[in-house]
Amino acid sequence: MNNFQYYNPVRIVFGEGQIKELSNLVPKDARVLITYGGGSAKRTGTLDEVKDALNAEGSKREVFEFGGIEPNPEFTTLMKAADMVNENNIDFILAVGGGSVIDGSKFVALVSHLTEEDGSNKVSHDKAWDALTSFTKGIDSAIDLGAVLTIPATGSEMNSGGVINYSERQAKLPFGNPLAYPKFSILDPLKTLTLPERQVMNGVADAFVHVMEQYLTYPVNAKVQDAFAESLLKILITEGQAVKANPDDLEVRKNIMWTATMALNGLIGSGVPQDWTTHMIGHELTSLHSIDHARTLTIVLPSLMRELKDSKQDKLLQYAQNVWNISADNGQGSQNNPEDAIIEEAIVRTENFFKDLGLPINFADADLDETAIDPIIKQLEAHGMTKLGEHKANDLEASRRILQRATQA
Ligand code: NZQ
Ligand code: ZN
Repeated sequence: MNNFQYYNPVRIVFGEGQIKELSNLVPKDARVLITYGGGSAKRTGTLDEVKDALNAEGSKREVFEFGGIEPNPEFTTLMKAADMVNENNIDFILAVGGGSVIDGSKFVALVSHLTEEDGSNKVSHDKAWDALTSFTKGIDSAIDLGAVLTIPATGSEMNSGGVINYSERQAKLPFGNPLAYPKFSILDPLKTLTLPERQVMNGVADAFVHVMEQYLTYPVNAKVQDAFAESLLKILITEGQAVKANPDDLEVRKNIMWTATMALNGLIGSGVPQDWTTHMIGHELTSLHSIDHARTLTIVLPSLMRELKDSKQDKLLQYAQNVWNISADNGQGSQNNPEDAIIEEAIVRTENFFKDLGLPINFADADLDETAIDPIIKQLEAHGMTKLGEHKANDLEASRRILQRATQA
């Protein structure tokens, strides 16, 4: 296991009816900006529930609202929210939504103080774009942030990262800064019951691939991280199928919600090599073709597993055995090369799992063909994604081969 420091300050408030806790979690005299997406927070009554809790007896809070944060949150929209933060002296941002709203709000919290030289309250787009292209590493002050999660998927509710879209620049870029950890996140599983099935399945798949990015690399004898990751994968496999069969089963929803959070809160990624190639290629697919984030991952991952099966062989065999219970002695391996057969069987099981959830597993499933490959490679190069993966060895040619496999799969 490699050296690591693990730090995660986020208070998680889990369970039905916990939104009322906002009256104790948000400072009593805060000037609060509630941020939300395209309308689900309003439609489902969650926004009213949040406002009632903030305006509870005895609060001296001033509450403002900013709605319209898109799925795959847009830089230009977020800059308007940052201006609103400055115009109203906001000192607490409360994100109500999924990864897009939470990521977007984290970014607003980080860039709001990057104002123009002319002393106006307007946030400098150039400074904010420079901050984003340098992963927001250099930012040393941010507005406090809390979250009310409405879709289990990204883990953004308990991490310090995010992803911002800038369509005009054909970019979808990741960022990360310890100041972006939410002070708290409320996870009320009841809030997930209004999700369309598509989004429920997206969430299961996104969480599954988060675990794979931190697990399917090479062994470093990290027994806790491996066992934990394998458990999260098995839970997502069983609960993903269970929620498809019984969408109203709140116990299933609770386990999916907590698993998605634990999949990307830093724990299973501590002290181990990480890949993230699938995600970096996936971001370009979203940016170029507006494919849902999770669906870009299910298109890329199976082909990446086949293309990189040699460098990932040890962990692929461990994954086959511990997650899918496939090994040579239970007859799943072929005579001549049991290991290849075991690995291929594990990849096919992964593909079938995604297909059972109604998710694409190759280019054809997303109406793409190989003409889509060159623009993706061009964007990977433009965004510096030229040495990806746990060995930093996945260059543009490797990404091209992965994408070519996805056109043939
Ligand atoms: O916009 P509204 O009206 O809220 O509708 C949303 C949106 O259309 C809807 N929705 C959310 N909660 C709902 C609901 N509809 C009904 N009932 C509810 N309770 O669902 C749609 C998708 O929402 P979104 O927030 O976009 O989904 P998700 O949570 O999957 O977030 C995806 C974004 O997160 C980024 C992705 O790149 C993408 O931009 N990621 C963030 C990560 C992180 N911070 O660690 C890591 C991930 O790998 C990912 O990259
Ligand atoms: Zn993801």
